[in-house]
Amino acid sequence: MPVGWPNATTLKSEKRTRAQALGLALVIVAGWADALHFMTRQEISLTTPWQPALPLTELPQGQMKACNVGGRDVLICHTRDGLFALDNTCTHASARMSEGRLRGSRLICPLHGASFDARTGKVLGAPAIRPLACHQLRVLDGMVEVQLGDFAGAT
Ligand code: FES
Repeated sequence: MPVGWPNATTLKSEKRTRAQALGLALVIVAGWADALHFMTRQEISLTTPWQPALPLTELPQGQMKACNVGGRDVLICHTRDGLFALDNTCTHASARMSEGRLRGSRLICPLHGASFDARTGKVLGAPAIRPLACHQLRVLDGMVEVQLGDFAGAT
């Protein structure tokens, strides 16, 4: 073997070092992306106002109701797991989700039957492929309030 050529042990060591460096770079990028996402949510929560949607007494558990929040068609779902606010327009072909059904935490579109998780907006069944946008929600003095935020498939 010529002098100066790496042997098998040196090559393995270099590959391991490169893999470790790549792993470290991925961890840094993932942490940065996560921090950016957190900042975006925090910025929204600081700058976007809470807006009244409806009195909590109008929405018993197991039901859902459409509300106009700041000019946006929002659906409030009262599931066993709590209250959730989502866009009221199906991402498949724009049907109003409030005309569909709420079964547990599964929200079913009235037009073609796509289903979504009412807690996260995540698609559970075709033909929709994009999640419903979710919004922050709180109950203050018996009033359901919504903070519009477009947290699609979040949390
Ligand atoms: S419009 Fe909702 S599934 Fe088609």
